[in-house]
Amino acid sequence: MRFSQRIFCGQLTPEDIDRPVVLAGWVDAFRDHGGLLFIHLRDRSGILQIVFNPKVVSAEVCRQAATLGAEYCIMVGGQVARRLAGTENPNLETGAIEVLVTELEVLAPAAAPPFAISEKAMVAGAPSAGAGPVDEDLRLQYRYLDLRRPAMQERLAMRHRIFQCVRQFLDSRGFLEIETPMLTASTPEGARDYLVPSRVHPGSFYALPQSPQLFKQLLMVGGLERYFQLARCFRDEDLRPNRQPEFTQLDIEASFIDEEFLYELVEELAVRMFAVGGQTLPRPFPRMTHAEAMETTGSDRPDLRFDLRFVDVTDVFPGTGYSIFRQILQRGGVIKGFNVKGQSAHLSKNVLQNEYAKEIAPSFGAKGMTWMRAENGRLESNIVQFFSPRELEELHRRFAVADGDVLVLIADPSRATVLSALGQLRLHMAARLGLIPPGRLCPVWITEFPLFEAAEEGGVTSSHHPFTAPDRTDFDPGNIEELLSLKSRAYDLVVNGEELGGGSIRINRPDVQRRIFAALGLTEKDIQERFGFFLRAFEYGAPPHGGLALGMDRTAAMILQTASIREVIAFPKNRSAACPLTGAPSTVKREQLAELGLLNLGGAETLPGVARQEDRLDRLSWVSRIGMTAEERPGLAAVLNEADQLAEQAARHAGPEDPVYSAVPVTNRTRPGTEARRSPFAESGQLLNNAPAVKGSYYKVASILE
Ligand code: AMO
Repeated sequence: MRFSQRIFCGQLTPEDIDRPVVLAGWVDAFRDHGGLLFIHLRDRSGILQIVFNPKVVSAEVCRQAATLGAEYCIMVGGQVARRLAGTENPNLETGAIEVLVTELEVLAPAAAPPFAISEKAMVAGAPSAGAGPVDEDLRLQYRYLDLRRPAMQERLAMRHRIFQCVRQFLDSRGFLEIETPMLTASTPEGARDYLVPSRVHPGSFYALPQSPQLFKQLLMVGGLERYFQLARCFRDEDLRPNRQPEFTQLDIEASFIDEEFLYELVEELAVRMFAVGGQTLPRPFPRMTHAEAMETTGSDRPDLRFDLRFVDVTDVFPGTGYSIFRQILQRGGVIKGFNVKGQSAHLSKNVLQNEYAKEIAPSFGAKGMTWMRAENGRLESNIVQFFSPRELEELHRRFAVADGDVLVLIADPSRATVLSALGQLRLHMAARLGLIPPGRLCPVWITEFPLFEAAEEGGVTSSHHPFTAPDRTDFDPGNIEELLSLKSRAYDLVVNGEELGGGSIRINRPDVQRRIFAALGLTEKDIQERFGFFLRAFEYGAPPHGGLALGMDRTAAMILQTASIREVIAFPKNRSAACPLTGAPSTVKREQLAELGLLNLGGAETLPGVARQEDRLDRLSWVSRIGMTAEERPGLAAVLNEADQLAEQAARHAGPEDPVYSAVPVTNRTRPGTEARRSPFAESGQLLNNAPAVKGSYYKVASILE
């Protein structure tokens, strides 16, 4: 048997019956049927049953086959045969055939796997050999075994096809795939950087890119015009189910374009990518301004698979008899709500009052929740008697109420609280009531984002990133109110409530970019230090440009409908940003830190008990218990350097060197030498003047020397 003869298990069909074949792969499952041994042989293409029949194969091979265990890596030779009628396995693509083995070679035995890998039952109707859900950390620790599971292989193969689709499509549109550096300077995207210390420049750091943003814009300045990259990005941020510390973006940038160019390009691309997974995205994607999304769904990434859109009814209740609303309105508050159409049978008074109003709405930040159920043409609730007929009629009209509907209202002095609480209630009720149609895909472009958000510590921060073009450029960077009223030329692609991508038309004029930095509170010095190189590039005729990045892990997870993005990443980090397989992140040896100049950074405070010992001067002073002032440091450092040079000299000469100074007269006993000169400091009694503790005529020294 030779590897060159090998064909894939999944390739074989009933047309291959009687064909001699060589197969190689892993033992997926086995079944001993009174001398007949059946094995599911698995390779990347699929699973095929192979049979060791003592009538066909030698006793020796049968004996060897009996020793095989799960996940043994084997190669077999044999002949394709049709399975006996009634023994076909509908669980397998190849279930109508099997291979009668004549030769076996064990390529590598396997230890017992820590969890079942087999997913396909050996006989029709039998439960799968898989042992059900496995702890995710265990799966990640043995990811190489987890990857052998057909479901994982299929996902990675699909991911590959989606990536190929991207490459092929963007190539056809004239985009060039260009790599940008991983070791770079910080790129602001709102997360913390992962830093990489430089050995060559001790105390200096590279940052891993949060995105290729600066470089892709520089590529536009560089005249490349259309760029893309399947780029790895790194962000040290709080983990969420759809976030990874390192993830892959499809990063796109183009020159001489506007928003419409990107919408068309990305819609076409997204349709093609989803089609790889057999899913149809409806085009054109609707567009919604950020304000509309917030006001009608309470979210800047609205899930539009179901309705439950908010209606503002603040103006229905001036001077209302319902005191809670009246007081909130007196404080300039807002009242909004949504109609849960036809769900009153599933939202009893008890559920609405005791679960939603008392527990769930408060857990979303609302102080309370008002509900009404429509029955017999009337709105019913525990407080309906406080509303006037006009108010009730207006509610009827605004929410287009029909019998069986349930109204949910939130009132609060803060608009943000109303939107946030109602937004969460919207999602909660949709999930609980099963209002999300399975298989539905609702893409939407969110546009006209605010350019800035108010920063917690005062001032403003960029909603997207500081390179996004504002809708107008005549703003005063010092006027916070005006800054907060600016809109950006940014857009997000949201599908089913998940942000798949985002981008913007960029600033291409250095004066505008400078004023945005100034608005963000950066001083001219900060700007120069962090972005001087970038602004300089923009002095040289930067073309108008814009782009977008799609989160490819999220996109693949949505296309393949997996529960988490970890299912579409070969080696993801777990929920606490660690890798159970390699143990990363892990501690490193002190030598490695020392080599990188990291031991003393920030002094003893950063690395307690380490820094003091590792700085040679500090260590010397600590070991010898000699106090050392800041002024004395340079002098002592010079002495140490001199000592280093002497040691170097000594090493070069490789011959006996006489000691230069010693505290007491000494003679080198190991080799002939002259008597050393006594230190002038010893002579004068000054030698250990700085010692912190003296007892009688003794100086106290560190225990290590005692
Ligand atoms: P943004 O920060 O919006 O834009 O990122 C683009 C997309 O990347 C995905 N994403 C993530 N996926 C997994 N794990 C994460 N931690 C993570 N963070 C982001 C999301 C998101 O929509 N430079 C800009 C793009 C541009 O302006 O062209 C940027 O990075 O799907």
